[in-house]
Amino acid sequence: MYTNGALHVYIDEISPIHKRFKTPQEDLINEKAINKVPNQHVKIEADKIIWELGKIRYVLKISKFMIEGFYGKDLTIIANKNSFMNFERYRNKNVDLKPKNQSKDISKPIKILDATGAYIEKNGNLETQPNLWNENFKQFNDKKQFGPSSIALDFTFVNSTHIFGIPEHADSLALKDTVKSEPYRLYNLDVFEYELNERMALYGSIPFILSRTIKKFSSGVFWSNPSETYIDINSQNNDKITHWISEAGVLEFYLFQDESPLKIIESFTLLTGPPQLPPLFSLGYHQSRWNYNSEKDLLDVADGFNKYQIPVDVFWLDIEHTPERTYFKWDYRNFPTPTEMQKKLESMNKKLVTIVDPHMKRSDSYFVHKEMQSKGYYVKTDKGYDFEGHCWPGSSSWPDFTRPEVRDYWSSLFDFSKYKDSTEILFVWNDMNEPSVFSGPEITMPKDNFHGNYEHREVHNIYGLYMQRATSEGLVKRRLGGYRPFVLSRAFYAGVQKYGAIWTGDNNSKWSHLEYSMPMCLSIAVAGLSFCGADVGGFFGNPDTNLLVRWYQLGAYMPFFRGHSHIETRRREPWLYNEPYLSQIRQAINERYSLLPYWYTLFYIYHIKGTPIIRPMFVEYPNDNIAADLDKQFHVGPGLLVAGITMPNQQEIPIYLPEAIWYDYHTFQKINENGAISYKTNENWVPVFIKGGNVIIRYEKAKMSTSDMKSDPISIIIVLNKEKKAKGMIYLDDTETFKYQSGEFVYAEIEFKENSIRYKILNQMNANISVGKITVLGLDFVPKVVALENSSELFTLGYYVKEESLIISEVPAKISEEWTIYLS
Ligand code: NOJ
Repeated sequence: MYTNGALHVYIDEISPIHKRFKTPQEDLINEKAINKVPNQHVKIEADKIIWELGKIRYVLKISKFMIEGFYGKDLTIIANKNSFMNFERYRNKNVDLKPKNQSKDISKPIKILDATGAYIEKNGNLETQPNLWNENFKQFNDKKQFGPSSIALDFTFVNSTHIFGIPEHADSLALKDTVKSEPYRLYNLDVFEYELNERMALYGSIPFILSRTIKKFSSGVFWSNPSETYIDINSQNNDKITHWISEAGVLEFYLFQDESPLKIIESFTLLTGPPQLPPLFSLGYHQSRWNYNSEKDLLDVADGFNKYQIPVDVFWLDIEHTPERTYFKWDYRNFPTPTEMQKKLESMNKKLVTIVDPHMKRSDSYFVHKEMQSKGYYVKTDKGYDFEGHCWPGSSSWPDFTRPEVRDYWSSLFDFSKYKDSTEILFVWNDMNEPSVFSGPEITMPKDNFHGNYEHREVHNIYGLYMQRATSEGLVKRRLGGYRPFVLSRAFYAGVQKYGAIWTGDNNSKWSHLEYSMPMCLSIAVAGLSFCGADVGGFFGNPDTNLLVRWYQLGAYMPFFRGHSHIETRRREPWLYNEPYLSQIRQAINERYSLLPYWYTLFYIYHIKGTPIIRPMFVEYPNDNIAADLDKQFHVGPGLLVAGITMPNQQEIPIYLPEAIWYDYHTFQKINENGAISYKTNENWVPVFIKGGNVIIRYEKAKMSTSDMKSDPISIIIVLNKEKKAKGMIYLDDTETFKYQSGEFVYAEIEFKENSIRYKILNQMNANISVGKITVLGLDFVPKVVALENSSELFTLGYYVKEESLIISEVPAKISEEWTIYLS
């Protein structure tokens, strides 16, 4: 058991014929931050083992192999209640393991605990299941040379109204019953034009489920298995019964119990984390396209953003910037002077991201291939040869990222001496890392390939994570450990929050895809990764202006904010649109940039506590039954509630505002209603509300990039709750290095109570950043005097009052010093 109350259970075969893959503990679990609880918390009774820590208790009933989890007196979760536990032991192929003590009378069901005895009846005889040792799928054959090795177990979430998690699916946030439909599938795949409202597998997998109850507890399970996994869900009485089946590997899981869904998310995120603190530029706007065709094309686009005064931080180069898709290299015909190009971008305070995919072109003139081949670093076939498949470059092989020495080698490729003409402003995009293999079954790697002694089927879902990790480590190393990396990955697995961001892959320029970007990213955030976004505008197809503008407006409130599109789509740079669309896109991006202090602070809190940045409504309002069903509106931190507009020409949209005081973020108008309301839309923005009791920090004016703004004054918006109080945090540092780890950052609390604003420093750093305008919303009196006190003096301030708001435009105070403002 861990100090966060999680119980770790691990079951393996004793002396198996083949060692089964178990994800190395140090690759997955953050034992530096979360310790194991000492043995005095474990009790052993007749048929029971009990683990106890505070209110959390787990009881293992040994003879039934059933684990019950209690939070205080409440039973919250049960493992193996339905005895679905199954463990197919490895066996030798031609040995008949028909259970000797069982009758051949097929009318009597065979009791199977170990599916080694899984027989079917054929012509009155018992025969082993077909396909156990060999399976054909379309033109593919899976050799299954180790034979069957699946594992399964059930988890019952007690008194559960909803369960959430197990991304990635293009489906509702709340998981659905699968009794009459396909189960949820977790198998990282490159899916062409994915369907919505489906349980089919997509690019990433996080086998984590969180349960919501109407009581004061919540529970969760992390099924630590990266092989293909199916989850069936059945609601019975007040419980949710989930049945998990994985194709291979060990049976390993973690149970979680706590007082709320938020606490469970934090626990899971930290246990498999901690989340990376990204460099500030990566929270700005990213402009991408498959492809910017040349240096000139890219620099013209960069100039366009300047000319039309639209903030942007990063430009992206897709596969066509390389010669024949050989990564770490440049196609010098179209990019003759990449270093010069990067210098120009740098002089504009911009960054560059280039794509680096895992398929290595099998060409004798490609140094990466030659080195990997000679070192034996590729994934192998069952015969021990380098696996060859087809992908963008033609015939390709794939690095075996599960091996530490291969990851080290991969990391070294980012060194400036190896990745020629890459400079310090270059960061990386890992695409196609499910891995996508055009010539493989389901467009991925054959399961009977080998990673050392393990078959690919055992490690499939973790492959992409290991690649993103190696890339992220490479970016850190190449700058001698001084600077934070940024790596976007398409495939992902539990723990991805340690390595960077993900996006929801090849979506479509349709309103429905805009709508599903919310539940998709929210479900990923529940599973520990908040740094998520969808291609703004949609990848396939050409959005009409209305859809594109609405996408920018919502995308500005997603943690990862990038416009991207397919090579065959029309160009979409914002200035290619007429007014008012151009201004509306600019306004959406400006809005993102002005709120960067708030975003960055949320990322810091996420980094230290695992608190998600975007939060489903059920997380913020765990006891509100209506909120539990909502996935088209969400919180950004505690203070902002955002709703997407996901239909054309909507004059009004339904919004649910839980019991609280709310203000419209754009107009500062108080909303005089609560509950389900119909809200008039505005073409210039999506609805955003500030919740009473919070403090929002922002820049008054957006500039052209995050670095242009990083020394600007920070304004403070204080929104009072019914008790006339509000609280919020502010974090800032140098935005890009690891120096914050040795204490070089400002972390402060801003609190309004008893008619004063107290700015209290929790961590001090010298930073010459001023406090900008202060606005207080919801004041019930007009102060006669407003006075500021800092460490040495007390002086009065000018201010004005407009309706219920108090505005102090000039505040002679610093972000790095303590001060108090008194209203009297
Ligand atoms: C597939 C990715 O999902 C897409 O974003 C990218 O543009 C293409 N690969 C080409 O690299």
